[in-house]
Amino acid sequence: MIFLEKITDKNVDNILDIIFNTKNSFEYEYISKNVDDTKWLARLFAKYLKKGDIITLNGELGSGKTVFLNGIASYFNIENDVCSPTFTIVNEYNINKEYPIYHFDVYRIKDSQEFLDDIGTEYFEDGICLIEWGDEIIQDILPKNTIHIDIQKDNGNINTRYFKIWRKS
Ligand SMILES: Nc1ncnc2c1ncn2[C@@H]1O[C@H](COP(=O)(O)OP(=O)(O)OP(=O)(O)O)[C@@H](O)[C@H]1O
Ligand SMILES: [Mg+2]
Repeated sequence: MIFLEKITDKNVDNILDIIFNTKNSFEYEYISKNVDDTKWLARLFAKYLKKGDIITLNGELGSGKTVFLNGIASYFNIENDVCSPTFTIVNEYNINKEYPIYHFDVYRIKDSQEFLDDIGTEYFEDGICLIEWGDEIIQDILPKNTIHIDIQKDNGNINTRYFKIWRKS
């Protein structure tokens, strides 16, 4: 049986501390009831982000990958600039003097080889990387410290989303 610890407003800080400040493997679940819940989690998540962090966002069309990223963007006051970089693959946002945020949407990339040929892995150490569709397309070349966020819709309730936040050991 897989036991997923549920993220709540009471334990969220402890859990984010484990996610960002340890090398542990983990699996956490968050149930979002609406867009505001998703943005709440994203903004707290954003507080912990630092150079070298790599986050993948995975889930079907309309699951909420971009809504989550907009929550991160609002924390950094770059909300107005952020849209999915579908045609450019990667957008760069300056959030401080030391390093940028790179926002990838790799939906249109064929596979890891194409990513290595056209984009390369230098980005991974150079800033914060947020990668929509990362696991579906380039999971095999992502560094071990990558934090994976899977988002699932609910069949019954149009505003419910199941988040799974995980990392392998
Ligand atoms: N709990 C929720 N969390 C996030 N989005 C929600 C939620 N409930 C409803 N929505 C709606 O679901 C949609 C999510 O769209 P979004 O663009 O974030 O998806 P996406 O995963 O980025 O899709 P795509 O792969 O097409 O880019 C939005 O229209 C949003 O209003
Ligand atoms: Mg999107």
